[in-house]
Amino acid sequence: MNFFKNLFSGKEKREESLIKDFSEIGIDMHSHFIPGIDDGAATIQDSIDLIRKMVDFGYKKIYTTPHIMSDYYKNTPEIILSGLEQVREAIKQNGIPVELYAAAEYYCDFEFSSKIGKEKLLTFGDNYILFEVSYLNAPENISDVIFMLQSNGYRPVLAHPERYPYWFSNYKIYSELKNKGALLQLNINSLTGYYSPATKKIGEKLIADNLIDFIGSDCHHSGHINLMHQALKNPYLKTLLESGNLKNKFL
Ligand SMILES: [Fe+2]
Repeated sequence: MNFFKNLFSGKEKREESLIKDFSEIGIDMHSHFIPGIDDGAATIQDSIDLIRKMVDFGYKKIYTTPHIMSDYYKNTPEIILSGLEQVREAIKQNGIPVELYAAAEYYCDFEFSSKIGKEKLLTFGDNYILFEVSYLNAPENISDVIFMLQSNGYRPVLAHPERYPYWFSNYKIYSELKNKGALLQLNINSLTGYYSPATKKIGEKLIADNLIDFIGSDCHHSGHINLMHQALKNPYLKTLLESGNLKNKFL
């Protein structure tokens, strides 16, 4: 009997979610829900299924952020905004209660830096701009890009800083980037260990050190969204939500 008692009251209890859902975050600012233009949703049905699950998780507002990368995803504001209209129409037809907007996840390459101040860039909230850097090589131009973005009135947000392995042994870079004016966005699934144990560890340390400003799903497919349940059990997520550091709710 004790065995069953322990099984159902002890272990099960420790595995319980610390947070009920993501309604406290409420607004997501990093995802790939425009169909067929990057490595996220492939069809409009995928978009609808993913957005419906986000709503079930408690999200009320979503800024979706397709990749713009000169080598792979040659997206433009026009392509993204026309895709947004298509998804908005489908949301309406399906009666899904969510506000949907679009920005982009800019890859920090030469093409991106050469557009700053010259072409329209897609932003979210109060002129925030989401950008990512290489997973393989430390970006040499990151300081210049952060400076150029700010000089042109943008507020740079670095996507998933916990996912760049070359910075794992250079932890001070995160406060340096913040001192230069970059804000940092953590991926929810980094807290589940999905990307790597090291990514989880760095993500948790960034939370503990009060360096995270935004949290995002970075959801590309149903695998990502199904896994997000597990993050609700992570005590660092609770810490982050209670820290008052998150800017999601002001978007
Ligand atoms: Fe992303």
